[in-house]
Amino acid sequence: MNKQVLLNQKIAETKKGGGDKRIEQQHKKGKLTARERIDILLDPNSFEEIGQFVTHRSTDFGMEKELYLGDGVVTGYGTIHGRIVYIFSQDFTVFGGSLSETHAEKICKIMDMAMSNGAPLIGLNDSGGARIQEGVVSLGGYADIFYRNTRASGVIPQLSAIMGPCAGGAVYSPAITDFILMVEQSSYMFVTGPNVVKTVTHEEVSSESLGGAETHATKSGVTHFSCINEVDCINHIKKLLTYIPQNCEDQAPNYPYELGNETREKLNKLIPEQANMPYDMREVIHEICDTESFLEVHKNYAENILVGFARIAGRSIGIVANQPSSLAGVLDINSSKKGARFVRFCDAFNIPLLVLVDVPGFLPGTDQEWNGIITNGAKLLYAFCEATVPKITVITRKAYGGAYDVMNSKHIGADFNFAFPNAEIAVMGSKGAVEIIFKKEIEASENPVQKLEEKVAEYAEKFANPYGAAARGFIDEIIDPASTRIKLIKAFTMLQNKVCNMPRKKHGNIPL
Ligand code: HXC
Repeated sequence: MNKQVLLNQKIAETKKGGGDKRIEQQHKKGKLTARERIDILLDPNSFEEIGQFVTHRSTDFGMEKELYLGDGVVTGYGTIHGRIVYIFSQDFTVFGGSLSETHAEKICKIMDMAMSNGAPLIGLNDSGGARIQEGVVSLGGYADIFYRNTRASGVIPQLSAIMGPCAGGAVYSPAITDFILMVEQSSYMFVTGPNVVKTVTHEEVSSESLGGAETHATKSGVTHFSCINEVDCINHIKKLLTYIPQNCEDQAPNYPYELGNETREKLNKLIPEQANMPYDMREVIHEICDTESFLEVHKNYAENILVGFARIAGRSIGIVANQPSSLAGVLDINSSKKGARFVRFCDAFNIPLLVLVDVPGFLPGTDQEWNGIITNGAKLLYAFCEATVPKITVITRKAYGGAYDVMNSKHIGADFNFAFPNAEIAVMGSKGAVEIIFKKEIEASENPVQKLEEKVAEYAEKFANPYGAAARGFIDEIIDPASTRIKLIKAFTMLQNKVCNMPRKKHGNIPL
């Protein structure tokens, strides 16, 4: 056969994956194929495939008769918004996207290329886990990937989209990466599926309930984004990449921005005077940041803290903010873990941090203590202490107790600490404080109610304001809320060349 004809024939074969019938089944489930996903994700005509003629080497169970070019994963590189990315996209039509020895080798090859060339790695996962027919070589293949994920962590951004059922080994590689995105109703993540669960624990549970997008977006926090369909998922990946640099030596892209009137009068009205009245911190974020620039991460998990990316005068920032409209913005186990992981990502990839504080403290109770609020709260504390990127804090209202220290206080390395005029920086709220320190005096008084009120007013006068902290330099400036945006634009510009060297060490030991 003519060599060119043979090549064309082989290339056509690679496009067919596991064959037309299986492609049709994939479409019937509302899923795209591995190649269709790549087409939507990458800039037109930018994809260059690597390893399309690879086949598996298995000869057990008659496998030598079932060979598919590419062996269930499409790998290569291309561009998104003109920036290079490396990509693997698992093909469920070939042995359920399961991972063979050679499938793993293909993924490892492009992971190595992404590392040596300093560009993000994107995995589109749709895999039934280890290729059962191959046994230990498949397990070894997974471990080769986990090892590379870990080596690459903090060096290049790693994004994992879950676009089908992902079981066993197929979930642990995503778990090591920086961000997981799941598709609602068609993607699942579990270490063992419903059948195994039933056998071992006698629990009856559906795939959706055990490991669907909603479960992982709300209950476990495993996924950072829950997307309504595959296209939405791919669009999220593209958007996410606009906020982050190519690697840890690089800076995030700056978008052109011309300064205009940056005063935001609405900020004077958004925050209730009373310390216990809820409000939505998202509204504050929307006023402070560039229009429509807030990309919230972990939106429906631990809602008492908000984290996400935004831009301020075109510059990418990471935001961590207490959310007074959920559990009064208290810090608990899940919100501490969520905040800490986000802070560490931003720090690893040179993204400055903005921290908005309105926090009543840590959540008390046996549930929290027995599940380790001490260790978990310390994660957030550690993450802020360790971060060397520009770090700015704005206290919008309360900053009580240990949570004041934790939420990027001056003492743990914040570069700039602003407070609104009604900010309260104290060990605790006035009433709680007075009931402890003046307990005997109040009880002995002829009119305990009046005495309590007097003492509360006295304590509030002394501590429920930002001036004590400002007098000591813990707050750099007390600002008119309407001027927050311009203050932040100037401060982030001033800090753009910040250098902060950490003491020499192998690595720290964050309380995991
Ligand atoms: C080989 C597999 C496979 C696998 C699926 N297939 N999983 N082939 N190895 N792991 C094949 C099927 O035989 C079938 O082939 C095709 O893929 C589609 O599978 P279906 O079962 O028909 O699809 P569906 O009903 O959508 O169910 C998908 C699924 C299910 C939920 C993923 O197939 C499943 O439970 N698979 C096994 C999952 C699993 O236990 N994996 C091993 C985990 S252990 P045909 O020819 O019919 O198209 C593991 C260890 C690593 O990963 C641990 C590291 C820490």
